[in-house]
Amino acid sequence: MATSDGLSVTFANSNKLETFSWFWLYDHSEDPSRYNTETKQRTVDTFKIDKRIAGTNVELVDDRVVINWSDGSAPGLYSVGLLSGAVGIGTDRTKQQLWLAGSLPDQIPTVEFEQVISTDGGLRDWLDAVATFGFGTVRNMPPDESSAERLVRRIGYPRETIFGGVWKLSSELEDHSDTAYSQTFLEPHSDGTYSHDAPGLQMFCCTERTGTGGESTLVDGFAVAEQIRRQDPKAFATLTTTIVPGQYIEAGVHLRAERPAIRLDQHGNVAQISFNNYDRAPMKLANAEMAEFYRAYGELHKRVNDRNNWLKIRLDAGDALLFDNWRLLHGRMEYTGKRLFIGCYHNREDFESRRRILG
Ligand SMILES: [Fe+2]
Repeated sequence: MATSDGLSVTFANSNKLETFSWFWLYDHSEDPSRYNTETKQRTVDTFKIDKRIAGTNVELVDDRVVINWSDGSAPGLYSVGLLSGAVGIGTDRTKQQLWLAGSLPDQIPTVEFEQVISTDGGLRDWLDAVATFGFGTVRNMPPDESSAERLVRRIGYPRETIFGGVWKLSSELEDHSDTAYSQTFLEPHSDGTYSHDAPGLQMFCCTERTGTGGESTLVDGFAVAEQIRRQDPKAFATLTTTIVPGQYIEAGVHLRAERPAIRLDQHGNVAQISFNNYDRAPMKLANAEMAEFYRAYGELHKRVNDRNNWLKIRLDAGDALLFDNWRLLHGRMEYTGKRLFIGCYHNREDFESRRRILG
């Protein structure tokens, strides 16, 4: 419906009435005079649009909205997807399911390697599990490096870091001075608290396993954060506003970045957990603030280390695990024997891109 302010639209799958201003519509037209239909890039000069621009006629033609303009310029064209996407309707088919003690997933989401490699449906199921639960597993992978690499590249190119692109993780390797390269127990943590853009996803592909223990532990950091928001609002405020530095130091490398342990988005939703006490860099606040930080950080630590909140997954040769490093924390039980993992990180936008392309 055209009004003096713009175009008001009610979407079928939402009862909300949304109004798009005429200026916004002129700026977002999908017609070829204002938009490159191939690259989907804007070509209209936003900064030269007349502030008084208005639509004079609105029609629906072949599922597209067509607007004629007061300045007589080429009509604007709008797909329903553009308008609904702009107001956040129908952008993701999956819904996050947070889990914690008492609400752990009934089953470990698992897809067959062959399905992931040879069908889009198999890949979609795996990535949807990660979007929903924060993790998903693959089984029956041939336990060799080239199969692991194929699995990695089904999602996208691996992210290069100081650990390489696709790396090997085993206590027998001494490539890096990190606790991950040992047999000891590791508390659940986030990777990359020392990176301004912590890896979005992490993958472990097990190619060899003997001995006992060594289960991967997973905790849903978003569920923990929501529990703190409900039960201890003061700690939640401290954790979302106190900037915590992380660092990684080895010969020739000194990485450092900082952000709150619980980062919120512009709507107040939890967007990212950054919790790694091993990698926390020295920080000093006024004593009272520091004491409150230690208290709040301790509340987070307590919940993250409550074993009732853990999922323990033992990866044997041929098993792979992909998880959301912004949402879940991961750790490892102590182990004996041989445990060879091939791992990699993916950038968050590449994971999201693959999901959009899969549709
Ligand atoms: Fe880690």
